[in-house]
Amino acid sequence: MRILVTGGAGFLGSHLIDRLMAQGHEVVCLDNFYTGTKRNILKWLDNPYFELIRHDITEPIRLEVDQIYHLACPASPIHYQYNPVKTIKTNVIGTMNMLGLAKRVKARFFLASTSEVYGDPDVHPQTEDYRGNVNCIGIRSCYDEGKRVAETLSFDYHRQNGVDIRVVRIFNTYGPRMLENDGRVVSNFIAQALRNQPLTVYGDGSQTRSFCYVSDLVEGFIRLMNSDQIGPMNLGNPGEYTILELAEKIQNMINPGAEIIFKPLPEDDPKQRQPDITRAKSWLGWEPTVPLDQGLELTIKDFRDRIEGNQK
Ligand SMILES: NC(=O)c1ccc[n+]([C@@H]2O[C@H](COP(=O)([O-])OP(=O)(O)OC[C@H]3O[C@@H](n4cnc5c(N)ncnc54)[C@H](O)[C@@H]3O)[C@@H](O)[C@H]2O)c1
Repeated sequence: MRILVTGGAGFLGSHLIDRLMAQGHEVVCLDNFYTGTKRNILKWLDNPYFELIRHDITEPIRLEVDQIYHLACPASPIHYQYNPVKTIKTNVIGTMNMLGLAKRVKARFFLASTSEVYGDPDVHPQTEDYRGNVNCIGIRSCYDEGKRVAETLSFDYHRQNGVDIRVVRIFNTYGPRMLENDGRVVSNFIAQALRNQPLTVYGDGSQTRSFCYVSDLVEGFIRLMNSDQIGPMNLGNPGEYTILELAEKIQNMINPGAEIIFKPLPEDDPKQRQPDITRAKSWLGWEPTVPLDQGLELTIKDFRDRIEGNQK
């Protein structure tokens, strides 16, 4: 198949491309390099079955493809809040452009949505029919509400135009190639510990998160895309850790002498987030397989190579 991956030069997109290329597909990677980098897809640049297009999805594009994995959108608060209006445009106009393309060429369309559509949830763990508790005027709204509209657009294109859609709600995912400076908790702690800086915990560290290793997530993407289910479907690791537990784990793995310091919680930071993955288990037979310690080892190795490589 010829498969388009928007945001393919980013963290998740590049891992997905590695899998799709290994499966023998032809892959078109479309990216504006806002948070993605060519380094992530370097190994495919000379491959005749791989094509890279520098393009911003807020502008329309015409391509012939069989499947579209639509991932383009900055995922970390630092980057999506840098230009919030652009984030909304990417989610709304960009998603509309990609759905329009899917409609025209009859491609199957996959939306990378997010657990952020649940906002600061008052139901725990979150099932897909929970409608969320999102602040529509807060500083995270450009992303949360943007993704909610992206889901609405997907379902409306499906109902109105018969577009074949798949929607996943991704929970915190980590792994090699995450940006060192994106402010997400795993990358923050690892980069700080490797640089001998104190690990910064926001709040008292009792807020919880779940952490899914990237290869598990990509397996779920591919299974959903090639199943008969349209979603929405939670994909994430239900193992729940407090932020302080994570800090201590990374501290022990890299630098047991590192200091942990506490700073005030940012606005609208959710207190608890944990996926209910019953749907993914029963529809796709999917569940995470990589334990946190093992995933962290692989991620730390990649960060070490990059950080120590830069220092040389
Ligand atoms: N990583 C996670 O834990 C997580 C969690 C929930 C949802 N998601 C979603 O998964 C997708 C990928 O996330 P990621 O972690 O790989 O983030 P990322 O920032 O590494 O990747 C996003 C990619 O999209 C590109 N991009 C951004 N705006 C664009 C535009 N207007 N036109 C073209 N390209 C554009 C970026 O350059 C980058 O390569 C995003 O849609 C994100 O919302 C990720």
